[in-house]
Amino acid sequence: MSDRLLFLGPPGAGKGTQAQLLAAERNLLHLSTGELLRAEVQAGTELGAEAQAVMTRGELVSDALVLAIVRARLLNHDGGWLLDGFPRNLAQAKALSQLLEELQQPIEHVVLLHLDDGILLQRLLSRGRDDDNEEVIRNRLEVYREQTAPLIALYRQLGLIREVEAEGAVEVVAGRVSQLVGQPL
Ligand code: AP5
Ligand code: MG
Repeated sequence: MSDRLLFLGPPGAGKGTQAQLLAAERNLLHLSTGELLRAEVQAGTELGAEAQAVMTRGELVSDALVLAIVRARLLNHDGGWLLDGFPRNLAQAKALSQLLEELQQPIEHVVLLHLDDGILLQRLLSRGRDDDNEEVIRNRLEVYREQTAPLIALYRQLGLIREVEAEGAVEVVAGRVSQLVGQPL
């Protein structure tokens, strides 16, 4: 039974969708930095105002800001968790590993979702979030390739990567994820 997971993959691969299902199935805390940032924007906080312009361009919000959000949530939580959309670059991965060492809570699995660019573009365009227009999606993809994809090699070296084909119906992909990270109790 594993209860400390990261979900990694390009924008639109289904990290949020699958993370939510698995978290519900296993009673884990689902931490999506994107969702938390959007909630700050919605609430009109100072932090939200700082994040909004960056998110609209599809760039990464500052490491310090995102780290503070994750740190506060993990420190105040007892039990398993699932991180979605974090870490997103090597600096965040390093900071996370320091935090987890402090908490003595090592990552058990990194679920890597694979999906063709054409399909994820379609999925995002049909959703239509503020940052789901073609130009911004292309930028998010580029940011993913340049800054986030290098984490794959890092976690692979640690033996943590579990690869999932993210094409197909939501429930089918969920079945693959569930199998890959072990059956629920
Ligand atoms: P974030 O919210 O993390 O967005 P993202 O990585 O671009 O990914 P998405 O949430 O768009 O896609 P997803 O993989 O979660 O897929 P989903 O399940 O939603 O980040 C947004 C922004 O916030 C960033 O650009 C950045 O500015 C900032 N940010 C966030 N974290 C940060 C960090 N750590 N550091 C710095 N900045 C950060 O699915 C997509 C769509 O497809 C949905 O409509 C869904 O219903 C549909 N769908 C899902 N699965 C299927 C399926 N199997 N079949 C058909 N449709 C499906
Ligand atoms: Mg998401």
